[in-house]
Amino acid sequence: MLRVLLLVALAQFSACTFDPELNRMHLLLPKDQFIEYFNSQNYSWKITDHPYLEGRNLTGTEITKGPIPGVKQLYYDPEQFKDLPENFDARKKWPNCETIKEVYDQGDCGSCWAFGTATVASDRTCIHKDLHVRLSVQDFNCFLGGICNGGIPLGAYLFWIIYGLVTEECKPYNITESKQGICVKECKDPSINYLNDKHKGKDVFLIDDNDDKIKAELVNNGPIQAGFTVYSDIKDYSSGVYEHKYGEKKGGHSVRVIGYGVENGIDYWLVANSWGTQWGEQGTIKIKRHQPELCFKCALLTGVPA
Ligand SMILES: *[C@@H]1O[C@H](CO)[C@@H](O)[C@H](O)[C@H]1NC(C)=O
Ligand SMILES: *[C@@H]1O[C@H](CO)[C@@H](O)[C@H](O)[C@H]1NC(C)=O
Ligand SMILES: *[C@@H]1O[C@H](CO)[C@@H](O)[C@H](O)[C@H]1NC(C)=O
Repeated sequence: MLRVLLLVALAQFSACTFDPELNRMHLLLPKDQFIEYFNSQNYSWKITDHPYLEGRNLTGTEITKGPIPGVKQLYYDPEQFKDLPENFDARKKWPNCETIKEVYDQGDCGSCWAFGTATVASDRTCIHKDLHVRLSVQDFNCFLGGICNGGIPLGAYLFWIIYGLVTEECKPYNITESKQGICVKECKDPSINYLNDKHKGKDVFLIDDNDDKIKAELVNNGPIQAGFTVYSDIKDYSSGVYEHKYGEKKGGHSVRVIGYGVENGIDYWLVANSWGTQWGEQGTIKIKRHQPELCFKCALLTGVPA
């Protein structure tokens, strides 16, 4: 028993990749010198400066681990795990679904959770219904008084299921209105009817904290949404496989997962963020798979279009 506990403790210790010495340099060195130093090391990722992210509140959701009462878990037959590819990118499997390739910029607004759900819902409406729509993040403003103060993805899926989402042509993203929590039930484009433009979901599912189940769901049904703990080093990410190394804990962030793979022997999840295309690899990031401190697999959700 003690030996087992010790092994568990050691495994957790080795999984923690935060580097106190590197963090000290991050705090002491001027930014450009720190970037040069970091990139001269043989880490699995590179950094750069993204001044436009400096003042932003990077959090926007709470990470709660484990089952949620009333929400179904996806069931998988282990037979399905045998043929999973080593690398998978939903953009390549469904090249006609343009939305999978798109990346948004949430701006200075805690709307990550709403972007995660609206983009997963758009991708899956294309994959499963062959309907090419960009579902409106702005429409979530009609839920709990506005999207900018953070929110819970499960609530967003329930909104999609109960009320549906209109398209971006009807309601484009508008931070000014979002910050005021203004709910407009008509389209900017007067030729579109608000209620006729609604696209609904049918179901929402939790995905277990299990790599094979997550992969099978991505491969079979398309993008999913993940919530994870953000540390400030991720702001500086420019390429490669991200592994938390320095910086302070900020809080919960929500993103869309579009694939997975292995780069230089390191397993990763392929993620589309909502910090614009000038961040990361054209807006995407590869996140090292086993990082318990990120809690990346704690709250995985996805939906089925109606
Ligand atoms: C750098 O890292 C890669 C991948 O982890 C490894 O294969 C390579 O040997 C390393 N090179 C040096 C100079 O440490
Ligand atoms: C950041 O946003 C979250 C909600 O998204 C809020 O709870 C928190 O107070 C904000 N933090 C700061 C420093 O503004
Ligand atoms: C956003 O909404 C505000 C307030 O309703 C409006 O004045 C502004 O023109 C809108 N911005 C865009 C880009 O549509």
